[in-house]
Amino acid sequence: MRIVLLGAPGAGKGTQCKRIIDKYGLVHLSSGDILRKERAEGTELGKKAESYMNSGALVPDELIVEMMAGAISKAPSTGFVLDGFPRTVNQARQLDKSLAIIGQKIDAVLNLKVQDRLVTERITGRRSCPQCGAVYHIENLRPRTDGICDNDGAELIQRPDDSFEVVANRMKNYHRQTEPVVDYYKTNSSAGAFYELDADKDADQVSVEVFEKLDTVAKS
Ligand code: AP5
Repeated sequence: MRIVLLGAPGAGKGTQCKRIIDKYGLVHLSSGDILRKERAEGTELGKKAESYMNSGALVPDELIVEMMAGAISKAPSTGFVLDGFPRTVNQARQLDKSLAIIGQKIDAVLNLKVQDRLVTERITGRRSCPQCGAVYHIENLRPRTDGICDNDGAELIQRPDDSFEVVANRMKNYHRQTEPVVDYYKTNSSAGAFYELDADKDADQVSVEVFEKLDTVAKS
């Protein structure tokens, strides 16, 4: 299966993707995670992306499209789930085109809808493991020991773009640049099924609905 997960910052894309890949044996391709790795390794791409990421702006399409095409080309035949990409209509068109060239298409698009008022609380309370990428929350999803990853004992960190000020900018850019991607998938794209899910609910309830939809896609 080839899946796109859409949603505002803090909608729970990363949280649900980790559960999806475990259940369906897909690979998780997160544009944000790939960019953070490039930044940590000090690559040219990472250096170019850093100032955009720190201010909550989108990284230019030409850098992202090439980076994600490379990641998709290495994905196994079982498929992938895209998280954070595409994020502009131009990126969505480029993705459709590059998949068509290799005789593939997106099988399903899931849009996680969350109210703006929940986003700030979720993002500013997020803590992540720098080693395994596990995601926690200081109230909603606490690790067994405060500040320590359950999986590998690493000290949890807060992302530099998870401050109140940067979140406001990320949300502004989401409404302006990424919401039109939802309409693109509803109306124009060659992608398969489109589903909208209520991501205000707790993460386990959201997963039940995600799996219900993806089971249908897997059987079709
Ligand atoms: P990216 O890393 O993609 O960030 P994002 O889209 O802003 O999404 P987040 O990772 O913040 O949220 P999420 O939906 O994954 O939520 P999570 O599951 O962690 O992008 C970062 C930056 O990179 C961008 O700003 C941009 O600069 C650049 N970039 C990336 N892709 C790009 C592209 N395609 N084009 C251009 N630039 C790009 O959950 C958040 C918190 O809430 C966690 O603590 C979690 O435990 C909690 N939580 C999750 N679900 C629930 C729930 N249902 N109820 C309660 N709490 C929940």
